[in-house]
Amino acid sequence: MAFPPGFLDELRARVSLAAVVGRRVALVKRGREYIGLCPFHKEKTPSFSVVEDKGFYHCFGCGAHGDVIGFAMQKENLTFPEAVEQLARQAGLEVPRGTREERETAERQATVQAAVEAACAFFEATLHGPQGREARLYLERRGLDLATLRRFRLGYAPDPRDGLKRALAKSFPEPLLIEAGLLRRPDSGDSYDYFRNRVIFPIGDRRGRIIAFGGRVLGDGQPKYLNSPETSLFHKGRVLYGWAQARAGLSGGAAAQPGAGEPSVIVAEGYMDVIALHRAGFATAVAPLGTALTETQIEELWRLAPEPVLCFDGDAAGLRAADRALERALPLLKPGHSLRFATLPAGEDPDTLLLIRGREAMSEVLARAKPLADVLWDLETMRPVDTPERRAALEQRLENRVRAVADRTVQGHYRSFFRERLFRMRRRGNTNGKARSDRAGRDFLDPNPGIAVNPRPPFEGKPRGEPSYVRGRRQQVLLALLLNHPRLLDEVESEVALLELADPRLDKLCHEILRLHALKPDLDAAALKLHLTESGYTGVVQGVLSPEVLKHAAFARPEADAEMVRTGWYQIKDQLLHQPQLMQQVAEAKQRFVEDPNDETWGQLQQLQQTVLETKKEDDGATGGGIR
Ligand code: UTP
Ligand code: MN
Repeated sequence: MAFPPGFLDELRARVSLAAVVGRRVALVKRGREYIGLCPFHKEKTPSFSVVEDKGFYHCFGCGAHGDVIGFAMQKENLTFPEAVEQLARQAGLEVPRGTREERETAERQATVQAAVEAACAFFEATLHGPQGREARLYLERRGLDLATLRRFRLGYAPDPRDGLKRALAKSFPEPLLIEAGLLRRPDSGDSYDYFRNRVIFPIGDRRGRIIAFGGRVLGDGQPKYLNSPETSLFHKGRVLYGWAQARAGLSGGAAAQPGAGEPSVIVAEGYMDVIALHRAGFATAVAPLGTALTETQIEELWRLAPEPVLCFDGDAAGLRAADRALERALPLLKPGHSLRFATLPAGEDPDTLLLIRGREAMSEVLARAKPLADVLWDLETMRPVDTPERRAALEQRLENRVRAVADRTVQGHYRSFFRERLFRMRRRGNTNGKARSDRAGRDFLDPNPGIAVNPRPPFEGKPRGEPSYVRGRRQQVLLALLLNHPRLLDEVESEVALLELADPRLDKLCHEILRLHALKPDLDAAALKLHLTESGYTGVVQGVLSPEVLKHAAFARPEADAEMVRTGWYQIKDQLLHQPQLMQQVAEAKQRFVEDPNDETWGQLQQLQQTVLETKKEDDGATGGGIR
C-alpha cells in the first residue's frame, strides 16, 4: 500500500466532495444531499446526487458512482496517485510516500475497487428498480425487509448478458471490468456479465469496502451460488462474509447470545444465515464463502473474538465439516484462543432454525456450544472403545491430535485433558460396561435426544429441535392456507382429505373445514371463519392465524395471490407427507447404529441423514413460497 492505511480516509474526510463536484456541476442542496445534472451523461432533469456525509456521489440515471478521489480521477483525467496528490494539496495534507511498486499496486487496487463499488451500486439500484421486481419478491418471501436489504446492500444482476457492462462502460475500460471479475471474456466473442439473473450479496473487506460478490439463483437452478473469481482484491479463503458488520456489531455492544454472557462471534455456513442472524439480533455473525474455514479465516475470527462459535448441522455432513475445521484450528491454537462448536438440529441451518423456531432456539443452540477439546474427544470416541486394543488405538489417535497443536503450553494442557478423560472413561467402563463407553460421540452426532433411542433427559425440559415441532408448524401453516384461501379446496379437496395431521385439534379443524366446504362450496374466507367461530373453533383458528405462523408463510396470508397459494400448497403437502416417514426411518437407523455401531449401520444412517438434508434443501429451494 503506497498510502498508509488511514491516510485516504483522512483525505476523504478533509475534502468536501460537494465542493470538488461543485466546481464542475451546479448543485442544489436538497435535504442531506446535493442534486445536479449528471456530468457523466447527457440529461435535462437532474438525477445526479452528492451525499456529502457519506462521501459518495451517485447518478440514478446512468449509475455513475464514486467518491471524491474517483471524481477527480474521471473529471480531471488523473491517475489515482495524481488525484490523491491534487486533493491532498487542496486540503493542506502531506502525502506519505511509498515505493514506486507499492504505489502502482495500490493504484491498481483502488481502480479495481472503484469498479467493484460501481457494480455494487448498479446491482443495488437494479434490485430496487423495475427490473428487480421478481428478486425483491423472492427476498421478501425469504423474510428480508427493506432495511436489511439496504444494510447488506443486496442487489440484483439483471438477465441481459450485458446489463452491467453497458452501465459501467462509460466510466470504466473493459479490461478493468474483466480484471475486477465483473465481466467474463469467452475464448472468442464479446465479454459479457459475470452475474446474470441472480440476487447479489456484496462481499466486503475488513473496512467494509466491496471487493466481490456472491450471486444466488432465484429459486432452483445450478449452481445455486456463484462467487466472483479471485482478483487482486478478492481472495476467497481470506475473507469472511459479514466481517465488517460483525465488527460494528461487537463495538455496538450487541450480545451475540442475548442474555447469555459476553458477546461472541458466530460462524455460519452461508450468506442467508449471516443475514438471518443479524436480523434476529445476532449482530456478530459471519460466514466463509462456501469452503471450509482456512487458517487465515480463523485468524480473522480471532481478530474479532477469542472464542468464536462455529455452527454445524447436526448430521453426518456437519460432523465431517466440524472435523475439518477442528483439524485446521489445532495447529493455530494459542493460550486463550480457541473455537467453540454449536450443533444445530439435523437438517437445519441458522436461517431455517430462526424462521421456524425463533431466536430463543438459536440462543439455546449457542449456549450449548462445546469447547474444541470436548468436540475432539466426541469425534475420537464415536466408535466403541471396549477392548484393550481399541483403547490403545484411541490413545494413539488422541496423542496424534495433541501433537498437531503447535503452541507448547496449549499442547501440554490438551495432553492432560485427554489423560483425565481416558482415566474417567476407564473407571466408568469398569462399572458401566460398553454401553457407556461408546456414548460420548453421539452427543455431537445427535443434538436431539428426543429422537435418540437411549433416552436421556432433554435439556432442562425446554422445547427442542424435534422435527415434530417443525411438523406442528407446518400443519398450522396448512390450515392457515385453507382458512385464508378456501377456494383452494375446489382443486385439492381430496388430497387434503388424505392428510392425517398429527395434532388432533388441528386434524379436527381440518375435517370441519372440509365438511363446511362440502356443504357450501362457495364459502369465502370470512364466511368460513364465521362458521368456525360459531361452532367453537375460535381458539384453534386464532392460533393458526397468529402472526407467528403467518410470518413464515407469505403464501398463506390473506393477500397472497392464487399462484402463490397453489405453490405453497404443493410444498406443504410434500413436506407433510414425506417428512414423518423419513424421520421415523432416521430414528430407526440411529437405533440400529447405537445398538451395533459398524460401518454398515453408520453408512445407512449417513445416507438417510443425507436424504433429510436434500429434502430440506428442496424445501429451501422451493422457498419460493415456503415456510419463510
Ligand atoms: P448452502 O447450500 O447451505 O446454501 O450453501 P444456503 O447458504 O443455506 O443458501 P440458501 O438458504 O439456500 O439460500 C452454503 C454456502 O455455500 C456456498 C455459499 O457461500 C452458501 O452460502 N455455496 C453454496 C456456493 O458457493 N456455491 C453453491 O452452489 C452452493
Ligand atoms: Mn439456507
